[in-house]
Amino acid sequence: MKVTKICCIGAGYVGGPTMAVIAKNNPNIKVTIVDINQERIDAWNDSDVSNLPIYEPGLAEIVEETRGKNLFFSTEINKAIDESEMIFISVNTPTKTYGKGKGMAADLKYVELCARNIAKVAQTDKIVVEKSTLPVRTAQAIKSILDHTGSDVKFDILSNPEFLAEGTAIQDLLNPDRVLIGGESEDAIESLANIYGSWVPQAQILRTNVWSSELSKLTANAFLAQRISSINAISELCEKTEANVDEVAKAIGMDSRIGPKFLKSSVGFGGSCFQKDILNLVYIARSYNLQAVADYWEQVIILNDHQKRRFADNLISTLYNTVSGKKIGFLGWAFKKDTNDTRESAAIYVADHLLNEQASIAVYDPKVSDSKIQSDLNYLNTRSEEENSKLIQGSATPYDALKDAHAVAIMTEWDEFKTYDWKKIYTQMKKPAFIFDGRNLLDKSTMEKIGFEYTSIGQ
Ligand code: UDX
Ligand code: UDX
Repeated sequence: MKVTKICCIGAGYVGGPTMAVIAKNNPNIKVTIVDINQERIDAWNDSDVSNLPIYEPGLAEIVEETRGKNLFFSTEINKAIDESEMIFISVNTPTKTYGKGKGMAADLKYVELCARNIAKVAQTDKIVVEKSTLPVRTAQAIKSILDHTGSDVKFDILSNPEFLAEGTAIQDLLNPDRVLIGGESEDAIESLANIYGSWVPQAQILRTNVWSSELSKLTANAFLAQRISSINAISELCEKTEANVDEVAKAIGMDSRIGPKFLKSSVGFGGSCFQKDILNLVYIARSYNLQAVADYWEQVIILNDHQKRRFADNLISTLYNTVSGKKIGFLGWAFKKDTNDTRESAAIYVADHLLNEQASIAVYDPKVSDSKIQSDLNYLNTRSEEENSKLIQGSATPYDALKDAHAVAIMTEWDEFKTYDWKKIYTQMKKPAFIFDGRNLLDKSTMEKIGFEYTSIGQ
């Protein structure tokens, strides 16, 4: 099928950047991103691109270049579905918070709603592309809904999981290691391969069956997260044995069979994907009664929770076993640098634990607002909104966050944290002035020379 119009349902962290890059590289294809959230669409249409709803290096420039030419943002979902030959589903698939599979399975209600809507609106044949991360065999459900419309419209379903990482989304999209397309219809697969082919070499466009494609996405995220939990497990052992986890990571990473990436020990991984996808993998394995498989992958999450908890406990015990009434300055709230996304950020859980111990927290993150910090904590429901807003506040500058603090907790690896005037920070803090570096970002000997009591991970 010759594709001249594409629609993407879901203007989020995946849909937005992916469609912007497709539009940039396919000037003859009209790309419309639709969303039920009017406010989000308005932000995508804001004439000042610094107000886009998501922050990604390089994104604003591409939106500025393509928006209004062949990239459009709209809430007119039905119109966009109707006029497009290809429809991407890129809505969120959070972990279920109710019913069967609560806390484990992916909630597919938004995906199903999209499929039903496409079935209702479509008058002409469509290629439907699953972009959202879905449990293996979801395409079956989508196909079943689309095949029971009673009309003679033909639907081809493709799985095209996204491997971009936030913070580097544009680079990952422009230079992907591979593009994965799973499907039955060769014609549909080639239609999508041609769109990517305008900038990705064909050899890097992998064609598989739908189920391999769906499962590969879950597996890739599980393997990546597993590496972090593995090195984090070793970090605790390093702290007992005077080994240095960064040295261990370097030494093992130079083995070409292991490789150097994703071996950075940290306060724990966050983000919208790793935990959700592994829980989902565990749930699927259990549903096939594969207990050993499920237990194996679940351990990745258990270790990650342990790492976050251990960081908070260590901070409390170092501050003479109490943080009650003490000011703790957080540097960073996002789940990693170069993004304003805070979903599942380790900072949220560490803060919650410290607030239970009656600490008072001031947070500085270059891209996260106070209202986001409040809503992240309120979502946990540990205490009332009033209590949260009394105990934790976002600060306008790092120096405000750290003034009179007993300790600094580095939660995100933003580059700018390294460039601060740490001597000035030291003079403005309570003494002894502690740094708990959850990202091994600062230089230990420099900090100790200034006078800080410096603790990092796995050292
Ligand atoms: C994506 C993927 O879709 C998810 O499966 C993957 O695991 C993580 O990345 P993401 O783009 O990060 O999700 O989600 P989000 O930023 O929440 O965007 C989803 C958008 O879909 C939201 O703007 C939401 O308003 C929209 N949406 C949701 C719809 O337009 N219609 C719906 O029915 C539901
Ligand atoms: C991940 C996958 O990398 C991506 O391919 C997939 O499409 C979506 O999920 P993302 O969650 O955006 O991407 O970011 P990623 O760079 O993978 O980082 C996830 C978390 O792991 C962050 O909290 C990060 O700080 C942490 N991390 C990463 C470490 O603690 N150590 C590392 O070595 C790497």
